[in-house]
Amino acid sequence: MQIELTGVTKIYELGGETFYALRDVNFSVDRGEFVAIMGPSGSGKSTLANIIGGLDRPDQGTVVVDGEHLAKMGDAELSRFRNKKIGFIFQAFNLKGDATALENVMLPLVFARMRPAERKARATECLGVVGLSDRLGHLPSQLSGGQRQRVAIARALATRPSIVIADEPTGNLDSARGEESITMLETLNAEGITVIVITHDPNVGRHARRTFEVHDGQLNEKPAA
Ligand SMILES: Nc1ncnc2c1ncn2[C@@H]1O[C@H](COP(=O)(O)OP(=O)(O)OP(=O)(O)O)[C@@H](O)[C@H]1O
Ligand SMILES: [Mg+2]
Repeated sequence: MQIELTGVTKIYELGGETFYALRDVNFSVDRGEFVAIMGPSGSGKSTLANIIGGLDRPDQGTVVVDGEHLAKMGDAELSRFRNKKIGFIFQAFNLKGDATALENVMLPLVFARMRPAERKARATECLGVVGLSDRLGHLPSQLSGGQRQRVAIARALATRPSIVIADEPTGNLDSARGEESITMLETLNAEGITVIVITHDPNVGRHARRTFEVHDGQLNEKPAA
């Protein structure tokens, strides 16, 4: 197994109330799989995505990725690990507003200490893959929603991660653009990258080989149709 979560629980304390965002979640994914995580708004999908990708830590349970226990890593080590292994496509894109498309895609490469000439070439190539070669110098505010989404995809791919986690990759797109971003994820998966898609769109879920559902913080695998 490439990703293995065991007994993962995430608790938020708010106004004296204890809220279980995730409750005893067990989840494992093999290298090269394409899986979908579905469930209603507020059920815990993004919380789970962030924990799988090492952006957040569980209160209980363990997360093992490529044989490494994320809990044993300090914050700096965890960021390096994320940068190297994981490409995140966020629900809200999280692009830097005062940076061009090219600069946004280069950012993770700066962190990975790639040389300037090489990172410019790599970022240009990734923006080409998502069809944005003619928008390198545009700021996010000068791009359409679908184009911003594609910049976010290019940024996730820039470091050549072995795992891509996409949180609602079609959420803000019309169906044609949504279909395009799923096709892009399928292409990546065909190249051997593990893809985890978070969605509440059943059309997206159909592309996955295995589907999981989160309800009130509890995860269950859906039986194959
Ligand atoms: N920092 C926080 N403090 C308190 N509660 C939180 C916090 N972050 C998330 N929650 C709660 O945890 C639950 C799960 O949130 P999460 O973002 O994982 O939902 P989601 O399934 O991704 O929803 P959506 O489909 O709307 O994106 C929600 O009820 C949310 O209000
Ligand atoms: Mg979410």
